[in-house]
Amino acid sequence: MVLKVLFITFVLLQFFSACTSKSHERNLETTLPSKEINAKALYTLHCEACHGMDGTKGVSGAANLKVSKMTDKQLQSTIENGNEKGMMPFKDIIQSKTEIDALVTFVKSLRN
Ligand code: HEC
Repeated sequence: MVLKVLFITFVLLQFFSACTSKSHERNLETTLPSKEINAKALYTLHCEACHGMDGTKGVSGAANLKVSKMTDKQLQSTIENGNEKGMMPFKDIIQSKTEIDALVTFVKSLRN
């Protein structure tokens, strides 16, 4: 059983590293700061569906992030714990503080 799990992990790792092209990686690094890629990717993955890439999509009543006036602390708490309507409790999905901070910065960058 343990061996089987180890084997599957090994196969998955091989598969993953095969997909990561080194030249592509280098290319991205020289064009964008890695922090920005990270935040944008996180936002695209977790937030875009409702808020849209520019923050104005408004799906299922999502707030317009362009005009949001929340402070860093409020943004952080909204992303972590969700708002009073129970939207966006991302605490269990986005676990690292660095990722939350990156999202806070990204959300603020959407403002005019
Ligand atoms: C399932 C849809 C959905 C997803 C996914 C979603 N949100 Fe929201 N978001 C909402 C809704 C709905 C509101 C609340 C609108 C209201 O209460 O007026 C909201 C409100 C907010 C607010 C409060 C803005 C303000 O000034 O009131 C912030 C900040 C925010 N979302 C950020 C995010 C971030 C960052 C993500 C990704 C980690 C995310 N949201 C993912 C639906 C979503």
